[in-house]
Amino acid sequence: MKNIAVILAAGKGTRLGESLPKQYLEVAGKTVLEHSIEAFERHPAIEEICVVVAPDCCEKVAALCHANGYRKTRKIIAGGSERYESSVAAIRAYSADDECNLIFHDAARPCVSAEVISNVVGALAEFSAATAAIATTDTILEATDNGVVASIPPRARLRNVQTPQGFRLNAIRRAYEAGLADPAFVTTDDCGVVARYCPDLPIRIVDGDRNNIKLTYSEDLRTIQRLLSH
Ligand code: CTP
Ligand code: MG
Repeated sequence: MKNIAVILAAGKGTRLGESLPKQYLEVAGKTVLEHSIEAFERHPAIEEICVVVAPDCCEKVAALCHANGYRKTRKIIAGGSERYESSVAAIRAYSADDECNLIFHDAARPCVSAEVISNVVGALAEFSAATAAIATTDTILEATDNGVVASIPPRARLRNVQTPQGFRLNAIRRAYEAGLADPAFVTTDDCGVVARYCPDLPIRIVDGDRNNIKLTYSEDLRTIQRLLSH
């Protein structure tokens, strides 16, 4: 099955608060986006890459990819204002007849390792959906609207979700078709859409990596700089 990486890079980086969206910041000699794309360019199981960017960044990113001589990066497409709209744009860029896997990855996770990519791709041999995740270290509580504890789920069963998240194209397409038809649709990641709207499909959890952090706040920049500078 052809594995296509989808690099989600259409966000604004509001929480980081820099003038440029975080994927365009330079860390360890190149932009966060280039680090993320290159992790998939060098992975032997990935055949093609689609980069989803803000509509006004398509030309700039196409020029960046050309200048770097990326060979797998074939599509640069416009995303939406919510993350899920960027995922949907990628799904729609492929025809329903294409038998392929889409491996979604946050551009804001530039430290993703080849091993984590392999774990997700490997799980798709058997499962229609897979996500990288790591064991949760903090105790997590569920709060009520009034700010008191509703419940404390047992930590041993909790995981922190990362990307990559991989799917058979037909599975993620079916999940979003149902989700977009639901007036109460809300989601923060792609697996959540499969879990909610295709409950018949088991989602395989594979090992992520503690270093596969998402650049979110300015203190993350120092950690990412350190991880990428060796
Ligand atoms: N993303 C996207 N399209 C959006 C929103 C997010 O492609 N409309 C991408 C981001 O570029 C990022 C990834 O999804 O690589 C994870 O999102 P997040 O960390 O929330 O990034 P931002 O939305 O850019 O940051 P913030 O929420 O702080 O504004
Ligand atoms: Mg966001």
